[in-house]
Amino acid sequence: MTKKKVIIDCDPGIDDSLAIMLMLKSEEIEVRAITIVCGNSPVEMGFSNAKKVLKFMNRLDVPIYIGQSQPLKKKYVNALDTHGEDGLGESFLPEVEGYKQEMDAVSFLKKTLKEEKCSVIALGPMTNLARLINEDSDAFLAIEEIVSMGGCFKSHGNCSPVAEYNYWCDPDAAELVYKTAFDNNKLIHMVGLDVTRKVVLTPTILEYMIRLNPEVGDFIKKITKFYFDFHWEWEHIIGCVINDPLAVAYFLDREICSGFSSFVQIETLGISEGQSVVDSMNFYRKEANAVVLNEVDVKKFWTMFIGRLTGTEPDAAIEHDIQG
Ligand code: BDR
Ligand code: CA
Repeated sequence: MTKKKVIIDCDPGIDDSLAIMLMLKSEEIEVRAITIVCGNSPVEMGFSNAKKVLKFMNRLDVPIYIGQSQPLKKKYVNALDTHGEDGLGESFLPEVEGYKQEMDAVSFLKKTLKEEKCSVIALGPMTNLARLINEDSDAFLAIEEIVSMGGCFKSHGNCSPVAEYNYWCDPDAAELVYKTAFDNNKLIHMVGLDVTRKVVLTPTILEYMIRLNPEVGDFIKKITKFYFDFHWEWEHIIGCVINDPLAVAYFLDREICSGFSSFVQIETLGISEGQSVVDSMNFYRKEANAVVLNEVDVKKFWTMFIGRLTGTEPDAAIEHDIQG
């Protein structure tokens, strides 16, 4: 069986790291490369964190390409307050040396997307993809499928009342990606906060994973502790919302999230900058350029996440805690 090829465009990032781990444990997929964009962490830090995750997973064969270090127009604002000063939950894992990148992310995307059939899972701001559109729109249009963790429909934002971080960090990039999709009858799969907020890694789920697989469980504990503390302080939640792995899980199994097709436009200015305006009522009479996911099968997600990462299928001991 030929494996589907996927490029993970990300800003690791605690939950990006969990998403990379899930992807690497999915045998039906070939992770063709990881491309780094500025977002949660500046690109050099994101590069360093991606290497740390690949080393832990024993997959240093996966290429990493460093991408855009600034949003298209807006001043860059990182999210190290959420992800810790090392971008990986202040785990301060040792640096991985000796990993040479042969070209920058946009050059890699230009070259590869025209030669190979690949999908892109975008887990950070869309700056690399927007640059790609500006430099070679045919390469962008050759992407098989785009799944984006970003935006929100009815959920409130996490950077402003209406905006989610990835789109808020570089609203001009997100706007261009959705506009280009609209102009070319393409669909972006938008895995936004409406669904990701329902995926909370609780202490019980984490302890269960440690019981099943101490090595993997302890690694996850190390990188999520800071995230747990952040969520307690800001959202009064015991646990942490892990956004990015849900986009990966949805890519792997379309039954994990469901939603509807709609026209979506990203606001770039003013009080609602970064907002994903979802025309679910079809006021604008425009063709859909997105599949907006607004329902999630939480149990299915955890069954996949726990099962693939620990190597053991979850059983009755955790059944009650993974219902969502
Ligand atoms: C998104 O922003 C980042 O903090 C996470 O990695 C995720 O991609 C959630 O808004
Ligand atoms: Ca991310």
